[in-house]
Amino acid sequence: MFNVNDIKKDFPFIVKNPHIVYLDNAATTQKPRCVVDAISDLYENYNANPHSYDYSLAVLSEKAYEGARKKVAKFINANSNEIVFNSGDTAGLNFLASSLSKKLKEGDQILLSQAEHASNVLPWFKVKEEKQIDIGYIPLDDEGRIQLDAVEKAITPNTKIISLAQVTNVLGYKVDIKGICEIAHKHNIIVIVDGAQSIPHMKVDVKDLDCDFLVFSGHKLYGPTGIGVIYGKFDILDTLDPINMGGGMNGRFDMCGNYTLIKTPNRFESGTVNLEGAVGLGAAIDYLESIGMDNIEKYEKQLHDYAISKMEKIDGVKIYNKNSDTGIITFNFKDIFAQDLATHLASYNVCVRSGQHCAKILMDFLKADATVRASFGIYNTFEDVDKFVDALSKGDEYLDVYFK
Ligand SMILES: Cc1ncc(COP(=O)(O)O)c(C=O)c1O
Repeated sequence: MFNVNDIKKDFPFIVKNPHIVYLDNAATTQKPRCVVDAISDLYENYNANPHSYDYSLAVLSEKAYEGARKKVAKFINANSNEIVFNSGDTAGLNFLASSLSKKLKEGDQILLSQAEHASNVLPWFKVKEEKQIDIGYIPLDDEGRIQLDAVEKAITPNTKIISLAQVTNVLGYKVDIKGICEIAHKHNIIVIVDGAQSIPHMKVDVKDLDCDFLVFSGHKLYGPTGIGVIYGKFDILDTLDPINMGGGMNGRFDMCGNYTLIKTPNRFESGTVNLEGAVGLGAAIDYLESIGMDNIEKYEKQLHDYAISKMEKIDGVKIYNKNSDTGIITFNFKDIFAQDLATHLASYNVCVRSGQHCAKILMDFLKADATVRASFGIYNTFEDVDKFVDALSKGDEYLDVYFK
């Protein structure tokens, strides 16, 4: 059962800061006590380099690292050998763009959408420069959603990869990845899913989606910063070249330049691995599973619907995604510049994000220079929404001070 008052008690930051209404969860999340404890336990009791197999402490740390991989695999219904740890979603998308680009030739096409985060656009721009490929954009419908018939129409004989967010970070719409995979696979197109904004808020099953790759960051999933995940279908992942070479991923090498690599997925994790990050992420996953991802999705949607119903009553609020499927609400208020509105809300201890949210090419679609984004997490309450809406409704105070 979902009891937000119990959940709040699990988060030291929330307990210590009852005056703060933290609504910037799409940027990063606060951490539950169990994540902090798991990391402390590592450093107090079994810290060693998992590559130093020679003593029992290192065996323990290796077990913890590989155990975290198993937890991630189970969480998204993958196999352990399909899970690569890295530093985050951005690193994952850069890795996939670089590594998959070796299979591309001039004139091949990558399909994105106008709603993508910079991390799912700029790595492909780099590939475009290097390989003279083409980048296409699946048109959004009037509301800003991606419809399957638009995907079908956007595909050309040259399309080789479709890379899309499962939940877009400004509009918060769920993209029908399963439907897109069905269409794409008929054309032998690889589908990459940016799971940054979906994984923390809903059940994601990679086998059910049938996506080829999925990436996400630990810090948006109530885990530590500096840890991320690349899921790849083993048969494709195993054909990719590592981008980072070094220790921990090679079998042997000699002075003539010959070398062998160890098995997938460890061959993609060169250097000393992020043990702390993996252990913390594993603890975050245990925690979320104990609550249930379906319960989380349902609760955050209730918060969203409650907030929208209240925001709509405030004269002058423009909501860009009132039918968002998740806990992301993007808005502006009268003529107040988005950054100023965020500062006004901050003066009421309401933390939101303003700007272009790294989705710079979406701003033309929204016909806005910048917007404000409130995004819910599992510890937010209906009272938080009341405080946020109350502060927003006083946005006129800002106009009074600066424009009268
Ligand atoms: C949709 C989306 N993709 C990618 C990223 C990048 O994530 P990170 O900064 O953790 O690498 C974000 C971060 O906000 C995001 O919202």
